[in-house]
Amino acid sequence: MKNINPVETGAWKKLERLYNAMESKHLKTLFAEDPERFKKFSLQFESILIDYSKNILDEAVLNALVELAEACELEDAIEKMFTGDTINQLENRAVLHTALRNRSNEPVYANGTDVMPEVNRILGQMQEFSGKVISGAWKGYTGKPIKYLVNIGIGGSDLGPYMVTEALKPYQKEHLQVFYVSNIDSTHLIETLKKVDPETTLFFIASKTFTTQETMTNAATARKWFLQHGGTEEDVAKHFVAISTNREAVKEFGIAGENMFVFWDWVGGRYSLWSSIGLSIACTIGFENFVALLEGAYAMDEHFRKTPFRKNVPVLLGLIGIWNVNFLGARSEAILPYDQYLHRFPAYFQQGNMESNGKSVDRNGNQVTYQTGPVIWGEPGTNGQHAFYQLIHQGTQLIPCDFLAAATTHNPEGDHHEKLLSNFFAQTEALMNGKTLEEVKAELKKEGLPEEAIKELAPFKVFTGNRPTNSILYQKLDPRTLGSLIAMYEHKIFTQGVIWNIFSFDQWGVELGKQLAGKVLPELKNDLEVSAHDSSTNGLINAYKAMRGK
Ligand code: F6P
Repeated sequence: MKNINPVETGAWKKLERLYNAMESKHLKTLFAEDPERFKKFSLQFESILIDYSKNILDEAVLNALVELAEACELEDAIEKMFTGDTINQLENRAVLHTALRNRSNEPVYANGTDVMPEVNRILGQMQEFSGKVISGAWKGYTGKPIKYLVNIGIGGSDLGPYMVTEALKPYQKEHLQVFYVSNIDSTHLIETLKKVDPETTLFFIASKTFTTQETMTNAATARKWFLQHGGTEEDVAKHFVAISTNREAVKEFGIAGENMFVFWDWVGGRYSLWSSIGLSIACTIGFENFVALLEGAYAMDEHFRKTPFRKNVPVLLGLIGIWNVNFLGARSEAILPYDQYLHRFPAYFQQGNMESNGKSVDRNGNQVTYQTGPVIWGEPGTNGQHAFYQLIHQGTQLIPCDFLAAATTHNPEGDHHEKLLSNFFAQTEALMNGKTLEEVKAELKKEGLPEEAIKELAPFKVFTGNRPTNSILYQKLDPRTLGSLIAMYEHKIFTQGVIWNIFSFDQWGVELGKQLAGKVLPELKNDLEVSAHDSSTNGLINAYKAMRGK
């Protein structure tokens, strides 16, 4: 990829000028000036409506943002990703999660080899295996069919499958229950093991590297539990499967080759739910639904690859994010699903986005002079409304929000869904319009408050509004739609990484803490006083040692 400093492009300078002109404009005015604004600034992708009209921008800003994407050679970068170029340069790897859902089956080359035959072979293995688990043909060591699925993994080997199985619960096979264990805190595993039965439990040990401390420790403890509860070493094969790129480590752990599902180094951990890391998804909702998820993502891939930027959903979302972060000064972005099934969606894209674009060195190895990835966070609406929306409405920070909701619910019950959606629409309207001092005063007067009280109270009830939101409204949360939504956000992250001129597919920033934990661990194995660290770290370790004995 070309290493272009975005700040040095003419488009960036144009955007700075446009920002100065835009600064004094209120979203309300933009809507008043153009009755066609919604029509102009919204897009339909299959059954998903993306309304980005409630952002503080106009046609001139959008055009300049598109120019910025062009100046940063985004089109070339997209093509390089899809065709297997080594764009994860520092790890010398291609980035080909899109090949995992390449439903056209056209060849895709990584290092001169077409990856599609291997992709299809593993999909076949997943289909066969999930079919056996669901039908009951796969038996535990006492001959009983599987009832409980426990995925042990962390980060990308946990968040994706967990998010998807939660999102697609209406498609879950009723006779199976799925659990996800990630934390090294034994509580996570122990509390899960209380709910399952060794005779009917299948463990998926999911780890790209098969060296991750959390996963390896949890896997070893799960195996110990299995052996202590009636299983023998020979029975392990019926209850443990491995998902990894590291054959040697899987073998060493004691999982036989036929129980291993491989994937490849060109699949990034946080982009791996489409690979065999998604095996727990296929076993929970059925392989046909897993394929529908892949198809939804493929449809978004095609759209991303082939649509001009001005009509390209992930590109536009990425560009609007850049406008908000680099010009309007936003430091975080909230993802707010008005859909309980998407309750892990913000957490999933917290990793997706922050591990990808939380970088401060550009592709030339220089410190960047501009903001890159924002903090991503969020909770399902309406819970968030009663927790943190106060700050979004009246705090000092600008927090752009994505609102997501389904037009139809899987669980029609009275007027729950209308109430849910009325909150969605009302919140985006309130964030846009706000409430002026005059409006507040008039309202209080109508309530009959005396003049003095109105004067005192009114300033606190003012909402400045002018707070940007995207609204993403889809017909129904089915596997295809979910696949498209995930791919949409993945490509938004890609778009931004290219423009920020950073490497989005490595994650060196998680290493330091891991290294130091490795040094501290042996110090915790005895009761000697430590003095090798700074006074705070020494103090904490010594205090811990004193406390644990009591
Ligand atoms: O947190 C760092 C990280 O490498 C993530 O990128 C990854 O998803 C996670 O750890 C788990 O890694 P693995 O799948 O190799 O166990």
